[in-house]
Amino acid sequence: PIKVLFDTDPGVDDAMALLFLHRHPAIELMGITTVHGNARTDTTTRNALYLGEHFGLETPIARGAAEPLVMPKSPPPTFVHGDDGLGNVGLTFEPTRRPDPRPAYRLIIDTVRRHPGEITLIAVGPLTNLALALKEAPEIAPLVKEVVVMGGAFGVGGQGGNITPVAEANIHGDPHAADLVFTAAWPVTVVGLDVTHRVLMTDADFRRLRELGGEDGDFMWSISRHYVDFYSEREAIDGCYVHDSSAVAYVLDPSLFEVRQGPVRAVGDGLAMGQTIQRPDDRDFPPTAWDGLPSQRVCVDVDGPRLMRLFMDTF
Ligand code: BDR
Ligand code: CA
Repeated sequence: PIKVLFDTDPGVDDAMALLFLHRHPAIELMGITTVHGNARTDTTTRNALYLGEHFGLETPIARGAAEPLVMPKSPPPTFVHGDDGLGNVGLTFEPTRRPDPRPAYRLIIDTVRRHPGEITLIAVGPLTNLALALKEAPEIAPLVKEVVVMGGAFGVGGQGGNITPVAEANIHGDPHAADLVFTAAWPVTVVGLDVTHRVLMTDADFRRLRELGGEDGDFMWSISRHYVDFYSEREAIDGCYVHDSSAVAYVLDPSLFEVRQGPVRAVGDGLAMGQTIQRPDDRDFPPTAWDGLPSQRVCVDVDGPRLMRLFMDTF
């Protein structure tokens, strides 16, 4: 199995991605770390504990960073994920299980050291926990098998951001952390809006999940009502884009995607804060601040229908 450590801010699509990991037989979930983003860290941690208890996830859940490395934290996007981060479904839940006593970055470091060369980090929220792990123990980078990030927008086919004209929410949520993660000596694949906006989950898909997907399907249907309303209104689509589960799908089947090689950076401040930029390896530029940075992979195309089949078949 593929050993995955999941860094997340649940989050409607985060919860769906977590169930996708949990139910797919090729995945061994080694831990869950929470972060600020779609809601405050208290809430994303409570949601992760809820998912853990409710769906029988036997894996450590560690609470992560409550704010970005450098910037002041911004208010959570309750208009996308609801006040509770799970579409205002009205969960009344007091966790009986405690989170792992370690902070998220510690759980990341310990897990990577215990399984050198084997851990895939899937990060689908702001990248603060991964950056803190790198700062504390930079030597773990080459021990990580792969880092797969849902985040960013690289302008492929004119694709812009979703929180500013150029920035995607996860990267905007902690651009300094993102820049550290992209430029570290571990192999990174970035699954950004350039591809996730080409993976559409329709409301008919959600209805099918509710009918055929048992308890998982029922849950995904309920938490997605507010989220689907938001996307249907804002983007004039009948359903929603598939962000976080696309990162999971990349790990399960990279042949769904086309990637472009080259170093990646995130803009830390100013008007373009949170913008992600790749310098493609096949383009020549004079010596710049990019030289010597590791070449990473950015997803530039995806087979959306095939990805959706993989997701739906899993349930
Ligand atoms: C990303 O931001 C969050 O709203 C989603 O959970 C996803 O990780 C999309 O920009
Ligand atoms: Ca997320």
